[in-house]
Amino acid sequence: MKKCICLFLTCWQLSAFAQHDASITISTGSNKIISKHIYGQFAEHLGRGVYDGFWVDKNLPVKKQDRIRLDVVAALKKIKIPNLRWPGGCFADEYHWRDGIGPSAQRPRMVNTNWGGVTEDNSFGTHEFLALCKLLDCEPYVAGNVGSGTVEEMSKWIEYLNSNSTSTVVQMRKKNGHPNPYKVTFWGVGNESWGCGGEMTPEYYANEFKRYATYARNYPGAPLKKIASGANSEDYNWTEVCMKNIPNHMMWGLSMHYYTVPTGNWGKKGSATAFTEQEYFNTMVNCLKMEELVTKHSAIMDKYDPQKKVALAVDEWGIWTDPEPGSKPGFLYQQNSLRDALIAASTLNIFNNHCDRVKMAELAQTVNVLQALILTEKEKMLLTPTYYVFDMYKVHQDAKYLDIALKSPDYEVGGKSIPALNVSASQDAAGKVHISIVNLDMNKAVAINSTLKDVKWSSVTGTVLTSANITDINTFQNPNKLQLHNFTGAKKDGDKLVVNIPAKSVITLELK
Ligand code: AHR
Repeated sequence: MKKCICLFLTCWQLSAFAQHDASITISTGSNKIISKHIYGQFAEHLGRGVYDGFWVDKNLPVKKQDRIRLDVVAALKKIKIPNLRWPGGCFADEYHWRDGIGPSAQRPRMVNTNWGGVTEDNSFGTHEFLALCKLLDCEPYVAGNVGSGTVEEMSKWIEYLNSNSTSTVVQMRKKNGHPNPYKVTFWGVGNESWGCGGEMTPEYYANEFKRYATYARNYPGAPLKKIASGANSEDYNWTEVCMKNIPNHMMWGLSMHYYTVPTGNWGKKGSATAFTEQEYFNTMVNCLKMEELVTKHSAIMDKYDPQKKVALAVDEWGIWTDPEPGSKPGFLYQQNSLRDALIAASTLNIFNNHCDRVKMAELAQTVNVLQALILTEKEKMLLTPTYYVFDMYKVHQDAKYLDIALKSPDYEVGGKSIPALNVSASQDAAGKVHISIVNLDMNKAVAINSTLKDVKWSSVTGTVLTSANITDINTFQNPNKLQLHNFTGAKKDGDKLVVNIPAKSVITLELK
């Protein structure tokens, strides 16, 4: 087996015959930090994400705590997920938290009207979510209900979670098994309030935000980081109106949602597993639009908040394809290919490079939904190519941002071009430099031969994710087709970094 991998790596290096050249320079002068919260995740009551993903049948033969699946937890702990957003999404604005506390058998049932019309039995509620976050060692990010909930309901939920007073609601939490306050701090005030969260105008929402946020109280040890429901992709007016009408001090962050739809057509999004080079190229064009979105939303925020106190929180992003044939409509179950890994890596590079404003992001949606990190089938579980990107990129969490300038060749398809490479870099507390590079070109390797300004280093190692075909996926029959390998295509040549980046690959280098 080992021999095969070596041969495979040699083939990537040999693919240098069809090669472009690029150069990079890095300077270490910045004092920006890449927040770990850029690496956040999202879990909605949708399809098989929570139920049958995290929270499984008590008879399923896997290790569990209560009904939380521990193999899923262990895999996510390994990549250090920093936060988990819950309970939605659109579901959040129909969720009434009191339905999800107390003895499970007595919890009311509802119909999940947003996602497949299935019965929601509320067996996974507040305490179960917070037990999951504790197991994951990540911060909870709760999205409160503005669309169909009241100010009082949201206010009481926060009191239930965070207060230690003698009030009835706090005594109820104690009776339900949690004597100490949970100290939840990330708090979403609605979700997509321009759409499924209430079809509001930005002016109306800005007023609603202030009303809900006023009564979303801080309790000792739990100052809330309130996140306003933000724009749908290029709705710059939404950002403008919110920034103008909501005082900076009232919000920790303003969100923005953007999904990469391969065809750009929500009616027929495109397959997760069968696509041509032209379709792949179009998808990457759509993915790289995140750069423009983040730049333009940030520029608007800069006008009202020049000191960049308010975070841009891209709290839903990822590729959204047609669902897997045969899966339940409304469950948004999709496979995950090498293409999706390149999308994740390119998007994370964009966020890292905008870390002065983007301080939080959540990939949609962790397990079995959209661009998932993990897929499950009964007791089986597999890690997707996207999972491996998060594994590779965890070195950037809370590391010092390094300014990296890149001269990339173009990748051309059908008379249009995009940069073949994108990159981001950081330095960790021990002084190690990590450079993550994506080569989007499906056919050509790219060679880098550069002196790195400012950086002192004596050795380079790396990891790589690639595969023979851009459509390659991990399946339950072959779950390890794509995984991380040691990368041997980088060396130090005098004071130069020489790297041969295989076609359609992601690499992370470590220089020390
Ligand atoms: O992630 C799926 C859905 O996409 C979310 O519920 C909603 O917020 C968005 O439109």
